[in-house]
Amino acid sequence: PSDTGRVLSIESHTVQGYVGNKAAVFPLQLLGYDVDPINSVQLEDHAGYPTFKGQVLNGQQLWDIIDGLQANQLLYYTHLLTGYIGSVSFLNTVLEVVSKLRSINPELTYVCDPVMGDEGKFYVPQELVSVYREKVVPVASMLTPNQFEAELLTGSRIQSEGDGREACNFLHAAGPSKIVITGISIDGKLLLIGSHKKEKGQPPKQFKIVIPKIPAYFTGTGDLMTALLLGWSNKYPDNFDKAAELAVSSLQALLERTVNEYKSAGHDPQSTNLEIRLIQSQDDIRSPQVKFKAEIY
Ligand code: ATP
Ligand code: PLP
Ligand code: MG
Ligand code: NA
Ligand code: MG
Repeated sequence: PSDTGRVLSIESHTVQGYVGNKAAVFPLQLLGYDVDPINSVQLEDHAGYPTFKGQVLNGQQLWDIIDGLQANQLLYYTHLLTGYIGSVSFLNTVLEVVSKLRSINPELTYVCDPVMGDEGKFYVPQELVSVYREKVVPVASMLTPNQFEAELLTGSRIQSEGDGREACNFLHAAGPSKIVITGISIDGKLLLIGSHKKEKGQPPKQFKIVIPKIPAYFTGTGDLMTALLLGWSNKYPDNFDKAAELAVSSLQALLERTVNEYKSAGHDPQSTNLEIRLIQSQDDIRSPQVKFKAEIY
């Protein structure tokens, strides 16, 4: 296996600020990947701000781009990455993109962040849940739901480590061999649970990483996390816990820098709209110091 690749990344674009492709493309490039971004929306800034205006791509417009790439024989990708998707028709077209890319490269890795909501609140139409459950999860290679999304996909509450591990088992049975539940909130901490099912019929290798919660609200961190997991897990295909340690350690160094910069500028990180310091954290992305260790179950 190669430690690099060509990634087609279908995510949001914001003119100002770092979410979606703005949070995913630069880190993947720093890790050595060629990344071709398709912007599913172009907004002036992200949902953390009072207004968000701009354009939304529909399924047909996505397919036009795929068609054009195919006409020029440019559809060979090692990875497909998807994040926030706002409509059933766009998600159905993404499914067609998966089939098309797999017809050209059967080894294509599809990394799916099934963005639906957080902390009990939806930010997509609820009709997307069944499409993710029935059609997307079965074709995904890696899945990175948060706690709420993992509950929607499994139909079970997740309130403990055990529940998180069970949810991973359930999702493996539906398709993906790599799963990260990015943050189960327990006792003021975030618990990341990772699970890698290397072979059918064998139990998955599971681990957790405990992350102290920083008292601030960030936007773009879910998108960044999934991109980092793609980048590192491709470099360490049989060592998913190591890939997760590297991703978490990069992200936490970036969050610490973000909070410290706001504090030094005299702002209260708990009450301002924080913008992650992505560009300033490039050394932490390229060569993270592993300070967050995985505990293998
Ligand atoms: P999605 O975009 O799929 O809805 P998500 O809800 O998991 O994903 P975030 O809540 O942004 O996205 O969390 C992603 C990662 O960012 C977590 O695994 C954690 O490492 C880090 N993170 C986010 N917020 C904090 C915080 N306040 N303190 C510490 N780490 C955080
Ligand atoms: N895309 C857009 C346009 C957004 O506004 C947001 C969040 O506000 C996201 C994606 C995802 O952000 P996160 O990575 O924090 O889940
Ligand atoms: Mg979250
Ligand atoms: Na996520
Ligand atoms: Mg999110």
